[in-house]
Amino acid sequence: MSLILGMETSCDETAAAIVADGRRIVANVVASQVELHRQYGGVFPEMASRQHVLDIVPVIRETMARANAEWSDLDAIAVTNGPGLVGSLLVGVNAAKAIAWAKGLPLMGINHMEAHVYANWLLPLARVGKEAEARWSDPQFPLVCLIVSGGHTDLVWMTDHGEYRILGRTIDDAAGEAFDKVARLLGLGYPGGPAIQAKAEGGDPEAFGLPRAWLDGSYDFSFSGLKTAVLRVVQEYEGKGKRPLRARARQLSSDTVPKVPLADLAASFQAAVADVLVEKTRRAAEEFHAKEVLLAGGVASNTLLRQRMREEVMVPVRHLPPALCTDNAAMVAAVGHFKYQAGERSGWELDVYPRLGLD
Ligand code: KG4
Ligand code: ZN
Repeated sequence: MSLILGMETSCDETAAAIVADGRRIVANVVASQVELHRQYGGVFPEMASRQHVLDIVPVIRETMARANAEWSDLDAIAVTNGPGLVGSLLVGVNAAKAIAWAKGLPLMGINHMEAHVYANWLLPLARVGKEAEARWSDPQFPLVCLIVSGGHTDLVWMTDHGEYRILGRTIDDAAGEAFDKVARLLGLGYPGGPAIQAKAEGGDPEAFGLPRAWLDGSYDFSFSGLKTAVLRVVQEYEGKGKRPLRARARQLSSDTVPKVPLADLAASFQAAVADVLVEKTRRAAEEFHAKEVLLAGGVASNTLLRQRMREEVMVPVRHLPPALCTDNAAMVAAVGHFKYQAGERSGWELDVYPRLGLD
């Protein structure tokens, strides 16, 4: 039995959660900064860290209150220490250190990407009861996990707890970044993923023949060519195709709505992203004889992606409710449980690593 307080401030969500045994969410609180960053069309790092400073203590207090927990009930504190924005990470890590020191609790630094993977160990509903809990099976190794977030697109081979091999990753934009940039280009606002998904609903995914970067013979991904192709379509519709791409990209703001068939273009873009993500994951699961496939990260909440994965991948595909795909601290506490059981502890010198990798 373990009761872990998880903390997450790597980007634009201030989050804390208490998780029992790495699977049962006792309390899960997320203070989103989406409204704050919307006016900039993306995360403004300095604003993000300042907002974390304001939110971190209320979020932790709220988490403790919802869990009806005393500090003495907890076994340890797990906090994201990379990858992410340096100023944001520092707020969470310093708060975690202060609490761990003051309350005499062990401290564990957690890799944010590993946390996204371990969200798949969480029971999807809080307090679902002992029976449902007993029926819930943990992910089975070996497995393939596709991590698709705003900052990362990694296809990971996992043979045991903490054992990762990166099969492929993006060589340019992350999948979520492509959603965000294209949404901005189409005047759909921030964050782009949910906006494109909504706009694509009435659209024809075959209306535009957008490119798929297959990068044959590798499990790597590339999305920047696709983004440029969308930009060219927009330019053609506006009859201004001769402007330099960079200047044009900068000039388009979220209030400039180009006269393009938005639903068709959004649907075509979404289908192009899904095609490549699904096909590479399908191939990896087959080649490595995976027992199951896990989806993780914000883009894993995409309905089309989930549906196509379920239809096309031969082994069971596990995906989470959207609130556990996007950044949260329950996933941090879930990793914390396995590290705590393995006896891993961080010292007071625990630092932040903005570019921390999985392998
Ligand atoms: O995992 P996450 O919350 O934060 C990072 O660690 O980056 O992922 C955020 C990303 C954003 O780029 C957002 O546009 C994307 O996830 N996203 C989606 C959807 N919901 C969020 N992308 C596609 N479809 C969605 N429904
Ligand atoms: Zn994330």
